[in-house]
Amino acid sequence: MKKALFTLLLTLSCLVSVAVEVNSPSGNLSLTFDVNKVGKPFYSLTFKGKDVIEPSYMGFKFSDGKDYSNWFTIVKVDTTSFTETWKPVWGEVDSIIDNHNELTALLKHVPTNTFMMIRFRVFDDCAAFRYEFDRNSNHAYIKVENEVSEFNLTGDHKTFWIPGNPDSNEYKYMTTPLSGIDASKADGDAIGTHMIVADNCIQSPVMMKSSDGLYINIFEAALSDYPAMMLTIDKKNFLFTSLLAGGAVKGVAAFLQTPCKTPWRTIIVSDKAEDILASKSILNLNEPCKIENTDFIKPFKMVGVWWEMHVPAHSSWNYADEWNLKLAGTDWNSLKPNGRHGANTENVKKYIDFAADNGIDAVLVEGWNIGWEDWAGNWKEEVFDFVTPYPDFDVKEITSYAASKGVKMIMHNETSSSVTNYERRIDSAIDFMKRWGYTGVKTGYVGWIIPRGETHDGQWMVNHYERVTKKMADAGLMLDAHEAVRPTGQHRTYPNLLACESARGNEFNAWSDGNLPEHETILPFTRLMGGPMDYTPGIFKIKMSDYQGGNTCQVHTTLAKQLALYVTMFSPIQMAADLPENYKEHMDAFQFIKDVAVNWDDTKVLEAEPGDYITIARKAKGSENWFIGAITDENSRTSDIKFDFLDAGKKYIATIYADGKDADWFSNPTSYTIYKKSVKKGDKLKIKMANGGGCAISLKPVE
Ligand code: NOJ
Ligand code: CA
Repeated sequence: MKKALFTLLLTLSCLVSVAVEVNSPSGNLSLTFDVNKVGKPFYSLTFKGKDVIEPSYMGFKFSDGKDYSNWFTIVKVDTTSFTETWKPVWGEVDSIIDNHNELTALLKHVPTNTFMMIRFRVFDDCAAFRYEFDRNSNHAYIKVENEVSEFNLTGDHKTFWIPGNPDSNEYKYMTTPLSGIDASKADGDAIGTHMIVADNCIQSPVMMKSSDGLYINIFEAALSDYPAMMLTIDKKNFLFTSLLAGGAVKGVAAFLQTPCKTPWRTIIVSDKAEDILASKSILNLNEPCKIENTDFIKPFKMVGVWWEMHVPAHSSWNYADEWNLKLAGTDWNSLKPNGRHGANTENVKKYIDFAADNGIDAVLVEGWNIGWEDWAGNWKEEVFDFVTPYPDFDVKEITSYAASKGVKMIMHNETSSSVTNYERRIDSAIDFMKRWGYTGVKTGYVGWIIPRGETHDGQWMVNHYERVTKKMADAGLMLDAHEAVRPTGQHRTYPNLLACESARGNEFNAWSDGNLPEHETILPFTRLMGGPMDYTPGIFKIKMSDYQGGNTCQVHTTLAKQLALYVTMFSPIQMAADLPENYKEHMDAFQFIKDVAVNWDDTKVLEAEPGDYITIARKAKGSENWFIGAITDENSRTSDIKFDFLDAGKKYIATIYADGKDADWFSNPTSYTIYKKSVKKGDKLKIKMANGGGCAISLKPVE
């Protein structure tokens, strides 16, 4: 033993440790890597000469009881440069430049003779690293207890965070200094799966602002066959350490087989908040598209038999009010209908008509299939079969009616997190969708996972979501996943994964104390960093007391801000989420939802500050039309919009959907005004937004 230690120390002392540096193409970001005296790998990062990440250790705890965060020697380092321009199948911009410098460090863990590669990529707005083990790593199988990647911050930054929970992201954001993080204080009404890992544990992505004006976002890219990353904080030292979401096996977060690699750990940095929102580094760190024929992937707008189930005293998903029913053995035709079932043929046709009349591409219907009578909260295995409609949902009639009107149908597969059941039945679910001509599917994972003990963000479920995405791609179906793990840019690889929810959506405004007016100014800096969110904007009937007297729930925005969200919350699936009858009362405002694009050739983040405001302009795909969304938090704000981005020499008609003079998200949310103005490149426009307000603008060139 002593001899082994002596040899080890001798090996390490023979090592001349030389710090290696890799800079971003412009030199803005500079990353240094080294191994210290006891063989601990560490890195640090600066932005324009300012420290962003102070020396931070890297490594692992495997379940073999050995510590893989020290006793490493550097075997070899290499640097390369890379530039490429690629075109996403859909997105915020037409083409994306991937320009980075790469550093690879091959390390040897002396006590176990294990080889590990750390790969760094440094872009102008992001530094990233991942660990890789090839077949010669001296391991065939690896059981990871935890990954020990540190992010050692320079001060007590202002931080936007939600509590660490491997089963939900549906929380309100908290804003505190790093030293003020206390997950036990976070709002705990995540639906059914609220579980705090530890007081000092938060989800990634985390967004921060330093006192010297740096914006820093820590997250991950290309999560595959590995658990999602949470972060624990050492509040005295402002030091985050990765914590992998666990699963059913205590003490093992990830089961790996070499060759294998971890997701990328990303640190996006700028002195301008706008650059954080514009960053494409997470996409660049994902693999190119693996779907050969992407013709079936078409960004779309939808309405749905959906919000009417969320608002009070209205419709239900379930057909009957009987409970304790079994999927097999229940005669669903003999149940007494409750008279409130939303997914009935006549009602669905109403939505199809509304979609057809207003150029909305598709209709989503929830609650169409048997099993909703006791679908949630019982942690039972056999809930839905995904192929049997309720007696009052005539799938033949509905799908032929939709087809006759040129409207697409979107399937709903709520799994109630009985995931083994879904995996058993997914092929027949897909056959059903193909048979009836559905073009996409919204999946859902409400409740605790079955297999029991697995978690929404653990490795087993990460693999499940990927299996489902691939299966849907093979079947030519688009996917919108709710309650799934937060996305990390995989829509580059599988662009049929159009959107995920994976955060606290607009629905919370229907039945809980809701989302704070600042919520939508934080989401793009956090949850949306990894991919689009199906947030379901467009609610015009803001107060739930309009459905049920005395109800205090409400949407925490003005109506105009609901319109602006179609631009500020990028998604290639956008729902016009409210009921058709509520739109019919405000068809002048609904015009914006009809007009707005869902796929873009260009995007300009005009101004942004996390937690306060965001203004974004986007140019519609294949068109000269631009759309602008501006939103503010609970404070009113005047935004100075500069039309620098417009084409020179062209005149545009701007239609401006603004808050009314007396608008206020609480006392007068539906006060809005619509007016037109002629604008050209270089013009400026002052827009006043109410407390919790916003403004939407459409710009069309004058022929
Ligand atoms: C939660 C989803 O977010 C929501 O959109 C859906 O209506 C319900 N689950 C039921 O599946
Ligand atoms: Ca949800």
